[in-house]
Amino acid sequence: MRVEPPRRLRGTITVPGDKSVSHRALLLAGLAAGRSYLGGCSDAADVDATRRLLGLVGVTVVDRGPGQVSVLGTGRGRWRAPDHPIDCANSGSTMRMGAGALAGHATVARLDGDASLRARPMARIAHVLEPLGAVVRCDGVDGRPPLEVRGRHPLRGGCTVRPPVASAQLKTAVLLAGISADGPVTVEEEVATRDHTERLLPLAGVPCTVGGGGPGRVTVTPAEPQPFGLRVPGDLSSAAPFLALAAAHPDAELRCPGVGLNPLRTGLLDVLAAMGAAAAIEPAAVPAGGEPVGEVMVRSSRLRATSVGGGIIPRAIDELPLVAVLATQAQGRTVITGAAELRVKESDRVEAIALGLRAMGAVVETAPDGLEVVGPVRLIGARVSARGDHRIAMALAVAACLADGASEIEGAEAVSVSYPGFFAALAAVCG
Ligand code: S3P
Repeated sequence: MRVEPPRRLRGTITVPGDKSVSHRALLLAGLAAGRSYLGGCSDAADVDATRRLLGLVGVTVVDRGPGQVSVLGTGRGRWRAPDHPIDCANSGSTMRMGAGALAGHATVARLDGDASLRARPMARIAHVLEPLGAVVRCDGVDGRPPLEVRGRHPLRGGCTVRPPVASAQLKTAVLLAGISADGPVTVEEEVATRDHTERLLPLAGVPCTVGGGGPGRVTVTPAEPQPFGLRVPGDLSSAAPFLALAAAHPDAELRCPGVGLNPLRTGLLDVLAAMGAAAAIEPAAVPAGGEPVGEVMVRSSRLRATSVGGGIIPRAIDELPLVAVLATQAQGRTVITGAAELRVKESDRVEAIALGLRAMGAVVETAPDGLEVVGPVRLIGARVSARGDHRIAMALAVAACLADGASEIEGAEAVSVSYPGFFAALAAVCG
């Protein structure tokens, strides 16, 4: 993809439905006995992988219009054994959260994926599901996929699971499994991660309590999930590249209406504020599907460096490559720490963003758990690689829009993993 830096950016971007919420809503609807309806469902390739998983276990998912999907679930414990391995493609969410949903079925399922997914750590999913009595085998080297999930129904309840890393995917896997246990199941996190599943379970009539011994403590009480209707909010992570671009570009004003403003997802908005960005957030009066939503507007800003670490990391995890891009345009040294997880995402995002930004003239140092960027620098258009990673492709597209001269992004088609219309939306606001 060739990207020419725009002189001016104006407009409103309507982003696709939230990918995290879409995966969860589809899986939960598949566990409910009857027909659920989703509006604003994500059109991401990752979400297609979850739909594929559901098709293989006997759940019928039908498109009813753009973003509108009906899901005919079987009821908990009634998924059939898939007759061939489930191809999760690039989607860690499908593999990990899907494993959780599969665990409560007396079936054996194999889950596999592309080269990127095959390089991602999965022993952690065995670690959190085995206390419930499921058997999860990682057949790749060193706890990597393919995965074999040997479930049972009901699972063993009455346990407390402590995920080895702060990961909403792991927490969700346990909660989805917990629906099919014979007693309550608790997850205890050291750092709170996105709570979309906790918000969805009560919509399907499954009791779920948060707190009671710490903010990161969640208990699901097993129950038969009921079909539900849900309007999925816009994906703040898909709006994020536009918000970052507007802040760093000298002549920009962009609006993203209808985006999810779940406080456990809004880390980038806090980082933008700390960097001095001119951003306005207008919460909508009515939440969508149990999630706060609203409009975010960002304008050209003079940015200053900041430090990003601790509890904000899971709240901004997918936006950290964008923080690195912003840092190239900010006065001072921006430091990101405590983000070792970034190295085991769809690519090693610490190296991937550092390599791309350095090729464009940025000053970036990497560390095992983060990176440091000194700014401001004039980025120069260059040939860079997305390394097969959708978030890196979008972050480099933002950098390219801020650079002098054209850039070429190799592997830019990776954006379809979360936002197939990203480059069309970018072209539209670039005039
Ligand atoms: C996600 C959680 C995060 C995030 C991923 C989506 C989710 O992963 O990076 O893109 O929907 O729960 P981890 O939970 O592994 O940190």
